[in-house]
Amino acid sequence: MDISTALMILTAVVTYLIWLSFISRSMKGPRVWPLLGSLPGLIWHSSRMHDWIADNLRKCGGTYQTCVVAIPLVARKQSLVTVTCDPKNLEHILKARFDNYPKGPNWQSVFHDLLGDGIFNSDGETWLFQRKTAALEFTTRTLRQAMARWDPQTLSLEFPENGFAVSFDTATEATLQRFILPEIVWKLRKSLRLGMEMSLTQSLEHIDAYLSDIINTRKLELVNQQKGGNENPHDDLLSSGAFVPAGSSITYSIYAIGRMEFIWGDDCLEFKPERWLSLDGKKIEVPDSYRFVAFNAGPRICLGKDLAYLQMKSIAAALLLRHRISVVPGHRVEQKMSLTLFMKYGLMVNVHPRDLGPILERVRKNALTNSNHACGIESTTPVS
Ligand code: HEM
Repeated sequence: MDISTALMILTAVVTYLIWLSFISRSMKGPRVWPLLGSLPGLIWHSSRMHDWIADNLRKCGGTYQTCVVAIPLVARKQSLVTVTCDPKNLEHILKARFDNYPKGPNWQSVFHDLLGDGIFNSDGETWLFQRKTAALEFTTRTLRQAMARWDPQTLSLEFPENGFAVSFDTATEATLQRFILPEIVWKLRKSLRLGMEMSLTQSLEHIDAYLSDIINTRKLELVNQQKGGNENPHDDLLSSGAFVPAGSSITYSIYAIGRMEFIWGDDCLEFKPERWLSLDGKKIEVPDSYRFVAFNAGPRICLGKDLAYLQMKSIAAALLLRHRISVVPGHRVEQKMSLTLFMKYGLMVNVHPRDLGPILERVRKNALTNSNHACGIESTTPVS
């Protein structure tokens, strides 16, 4: 190599490093590595990704910007990722400027094998058409019908494993891996049928067979005939002040939102169900849907929210009436890294029968006192 070429390479490297140190200092999120941006950090922490993102957000006051390809021109455009858990930003993204924040081509390509162009994986007209159609299925009447069909026996340990549920869980777990890896890597693994891509393919075959069967037997009509016609997104400014260029990505961490001191107070990591009660302790007060985002918010809020609450409440009522439940001491509760949060080793619990005697006795005495009051008779029995 002659001297002038060596000098040119040296100048290019030094210029790149100066640019890198400038861009890393301007991005307050995780460390930005040469070329790969914050990708090494994400891969390194992939087994505790949600906590890593929550830690980053905590350090940055609820919003940060980073890049997944540290190359001039691209870093502040297509490869820029704005990560937030600030309720004000969420309201802006999910409601005020909803049309400017579609799921986008990257999300759609990752999910296409699992979700096709269905409601979860489409934008614009295609999504709206499916949303309107699906909303018709979530009326009070259909909720009642669904609950009437629900059989508590499905909680029994003897109940055979549900092949569809197992395949779906495997498929969602494998799909999350695609998010972490660069597109070219997961596409290569897919074509070579390597690792989780292999189990994804097998699970999808199972899911397809299962669903086709249901579709055929119930003669469901295919609803996805329209093609999405999205407007091109525009540059935008979030409520927190972060500038979001058109074509970049934005991620909101539902997991982190539930674990931020600035949203829930210093005791945010403690299990305190009473924080949902009104001051007089008589009413349940659910915070606005941009602070409690488990079901998403805005026009894309979960359609099954009421059904999910109904199921959770009926299961809780059926179990807790006659049983006391405690976690098996020493059981490891760890998250499984998947698209939905569930526990890696399940939740092993001990189930103890509840002695309903004292409760029934109290109810009986209360009822007796009330009926005596109604008849004008004063009770002398103290009611605890
Ligand atoms: C505890 C249970 C549930 C939770 C935490 C939950 C949470 C969510 C979340 C976060 C989204 C937004 C997903 C996204 O945009 O990518 C969503 C969307 C959705 N959920 Fe749920 N969900 C639950 C149960 C259900 C059930 C039981 C059903 C149906 C029977 C359902 C149907 C839907 C549908 C159709 C959407 C898509 C809405 C749209 O994009 O317009 N969900 N849900």
